[in-house]
Amino acid sequence: MTMTEQKNLLGAPPARPLIAPSILSADFGRLVEDCRDVLDAGADLLHVDVMDGHFVPNLSMGPAVCGSLRRHFPEVYLDVHLMVEDPGMFLEPFVKAGADHISFHVEVVDDPIGMAERIRELGASPGLALNPETPVDAVLPHLESFDLALVMSVHPGYSGQAFIPEVLDKVRVIRERFGDAIRIEADGGVSPETAPICRDAGYDVLVSGSSVFGSSDRAGDIEAIRGRG
Ligand code: DX5
Ligand code: ZN
Repeated sequence: MTMTEQKNLLGAPPARPLIAPSILSADFGRLVEDCRDVLDAGADLLHVDVMDGHFVPNLSMGPAVCGSLRRHFPEVYLDVHLMVEDPGMFLEPFVKAGADHISFHVEVVDDPIGMAERIRELGASPGLALNPETPVDAVLPHLESFDLALVMSVHPGYSGQAFIPEVLDKVRVIRERFGDAIRIEADGGVSPETAPICRDAGYDVLVSGSSVFGSSDRAGDIEAIRGRG
């Protein structure tokens, strides 16, 4: 994959669903080895979950971890998911640390389109996230300015929660409205069992934490989540 193709990873409809392991479920004591292993097993990009202990009741990682990943994996697409109350504070530090894509939550931002423009000016791709209880109408007026809609399929904060199927209605509405012009990312509870309904509803980027990192057959698990065709 060339650098240009890689930088545009979320900018064009993928031929097949992209698989994005969430490093939140990696063994932090051997993060690089664990990430290399899932990439060798077929993952397309890495999903970096950032939590501030305010927007969600958990803490995870900051730009330094993103910077380490960038140094160890110069060509891997890094998809940063900001679960923080003040995402504007973290755009520049994460892009400087090597983020290719940054998603932030609609629930905490007054001017999502302005924030998307800032992300593009910094040289990254913008994504707009919404929680399971947030109506799709909260994002529809803004999505034209984004490369990706992150439709949370669990309540954000922790890996290993059960998939919430009710969110699929929002995915269908976004896919119907925007067609191939936008990527739609599933995040939470995605496994070989839940992936088929995700793909059918229109998700085309599938984040998976505990299922992929916890698997004894990561390559098989990734291919099962991706599905055939
Ligand atoms: C949830 C995070 C997810 C999570 C996914 O707050 O945004 O990325 O790590 O983990 P699983 O796949 O285990 O639900
Ligand atoms: Zn996430």
